[in-house]
Amino acid sequence: MFKSSLFTVVFLAIVISGTYCAPAAEEPAPEPVAPPEPQAITATATLQATEGNEVSGTVSFEESDGMVSIVADVSGLEPGMHGFHIHETGDCSAPDGTSAGGHFNPQESEHGAPDGEIHHSGDFGNLEADEEGMAHLEVSVDFITLSEGATSVLNRAVIVHAQEDDFGQPTGNAGPRQACGEIQ
Ligand code: CU
Ligand code: ZN
Repeated sequence: MFKSSLFTVVFLAIVISGTYCAPAAEEPAPEPVAPPEPQAITATATLQATEGNEVSGTVSFEESDGMVSIVADVSGLEPGMHGFHIHETGDCSAPDGTSAGGHFNPQESEHGAPDGEIHHSGDFGNLEADEEGMAHLEVSVDFITLSEGATSVLNRAVIVHAQEDDFGQPTGNAGPRQACGEIQ
């Protein structure tokens, strides 16, 4: 008795679910008409490890309404803080990344923290890597642009350093360059 009623329940369940899940022949929904979007300018830097380490990642940039938002995802780091800057030359050809030059500094100011009053235009403080060596940073700033002009970071380079940017002079004591990516 129990077995046969269980069978009935299972059988009914299959029939009902089959009924409900049967693909309905529907008309394809009309394509929604996209509203016109404001033109955003975007750029990306693909980070390549310098000689002797395995740091890699992606940094994406998007400019709109006078702000540039930056999203960085980097892996292969030692856990902890790593100086994160835009350097002036979009040239990562040197094995140690020194071809990227110094910090992007069109205003000829001193080095500092990005949220401080005085800093280079390329100063973005630090990435913080977790125990897996992964770092994620999202920040939005008004002191760089992608569009043409003195503060444009296009064709410059993102550098990730081995050590923490302590905001000391002249460039934060962040040590060797572990990854470099041209902003394109
Ligand atoms: Cu740097
Ligand atoms: Zn700096």
